[in-house]
Amino acid sequence: MRKQPQRIAELLESPRTNIPVVTAGWVKTFRNDRFIALNDGSTLENLQLVIDPEKYPEDIRKKITTGAAVYAEGELVPSPGKGQAVEVQVEKLEILGEADAETYPIQPKRHSLEFLREKAHLRGRTTLFGAIMRVRSRLAYAIHTYFQEKGFIYLHTPIITAIDAEGAGQMFQVTTLDLENPPRNEEGKVDYKKDFFGKKANLTVSGQLEAETYAMALGQVYTFGPTFRAENSNTTRHLAEFWMVEPEVAFLDLHGNMDLAEDFVKYIIRDVMKERPKDLEFLEKRLLQEEKNLPQAKRSPMPLREKLQFVLDNRFVRITYTEAIEILRNSKPFKKKKFQYPVEWGLDLQSEHERYLVEKHFKSPVIIYDYPARIKAFYMRLNDDGKTVRAMDVLFPGIGEIIGGSQREERPDVLLKKMEEMGIDPEELWWYVDLRRYGTAYHSGFGLGFERMVQFVTGMGNIRDVIPFPRYPKNAEF
Ligand code: 4AD
Ligand code: MG
Repeated sequence: MRKQPQRIAELLESPRTNIPVVTAGWVKTFRNDRFIALNDGSTLENLQLVIDPEKYPEDIRKKITTGAAVYAEGELVPSPGKGQAVEVQVEKLEILGEADAETYPIQPKRHSLEFLREKAHLRGRTTLFGAIMRVRSRLAYAIHTYFQEKGFIYLHTPIITAIDAEGAGQMFQVTTLDLENPPRNEEGKVDYKKDFFGKKANLTVSGQLEAETYAMALGQVYTFGPTFRAENSNTTRHLAEFWMVEPEVAFLDLHGNMDLAEDFVKYIIRDVMKERPKDLEFLEKRLLQEEKNLPQAKRSPMPLREKLQFVLDNRFVRITYTEAIEILRNSKPFKKKKFQYPVEWGLDLQSEHERYLVEKHFKSPVIIYDYPARIKAFYMRLNDDGKTVRAMDVLFPGIGEIIGGSQREERPDVLLKKMEEMGIDPEELWWYVDLRRYGTAYHSGFGLGFERMVQFVTGMGNIRDVIPFPRYPKNAEF
């Protein structure tokens, strides 16, 4: 009869020793025929199991290899060795599942991130991916805690949607039609009336528009779910499937929205620093190690935890788009023609511009607001100048845009005019327009790219390494 194993994180913190314990996990290393370093994923630290080689003959011992699953009962005792406070004197050991040392890919040595991406089903067993996923989990928890404690209502917006007006990127189509032989209408076009939903449907790019409807009923809501964008961006900042956190608040203007965004990201960073200190310490060391051979200019300007503390200690810089353009046009790289893309009022900021502002000019998170109407979505509230909208982007060092948001256009006439200008059929979004007809009020919201936040907190350079199974062009393995 097996007993329910305790989590290694708890055993390592146990205030009592010389007590019977039960543990199970995967072998990290086995040395001197005697010492097993065991990990169960609850913490990055291993639990040392000590076995008596007399009791376990060669043919059993040779099955204790890296990656094997084992179950053990024994006594938790103070450890005489260095490196751990306690260890387990094993009384009963069972090898649950062997891991053939010839073929098991996760050996106790450094593997490249590219290699591990191909072994995404096993990379969670590495110290690095264990740390990343625990940090990710805690961030998700902190997000819910933050909003729940502030009285926000968690709203589940649909994943399948018929809206294709958001303009947030290419969408993935959802259909049950026979693609080899689709039904056609009189004009010879595919007849979506015969499709599952009776119209063309897609995977959502954002829950915002639906969240707005409930913000105008419940006051403060947030969504936190998967979003999908079929843009063919093979970058270290884009995924085809990513998670987005989108609060939406009635009776909140753009400046209140910036305050909320800043308070929110500081809260979740503070929480994860408090709750996952060992994982962050490990991630910090990894980053230092990884950047050791880079020239100074390419290294992170601060160690990971100092960077996080810096974000907590400083108020985010807030500038208008117009001010940002001015700063950029007066900058050295602009004057020396070092920017690849033009800097001109009316054009969108490229990531090289955003990075200059955040990393070189201000050396701090920056919120840019009041963007030209032409480069932003139809739903953003028009300013009195008639040229700019109440948009805001939060830019983070090393990441670029981490949050995008706005105050929404609440005036029906202005909204309809904007939709017309942008070629969006108000009939298709009749319910969205309805909100402006019945009890309309000023309101705001934003979207935080969850993986970009996990990247920032873990210091991982590639977004594909902060989600268990990344989805990107030509990759949907696992
Ligand atoms: O700026 P975006 O497109 O904003 C919206 O979708 C709004 N509807 C949000 C709102 O106001 N409720 O996306 C928001 C954030 C970006 O700032 C970025 O962090 C992240 O989502 N993001 C991505 N993250 C990973 N992969 C992608 N392809 C992403 N596209 C956007
Ligand atoms: Mg954006």
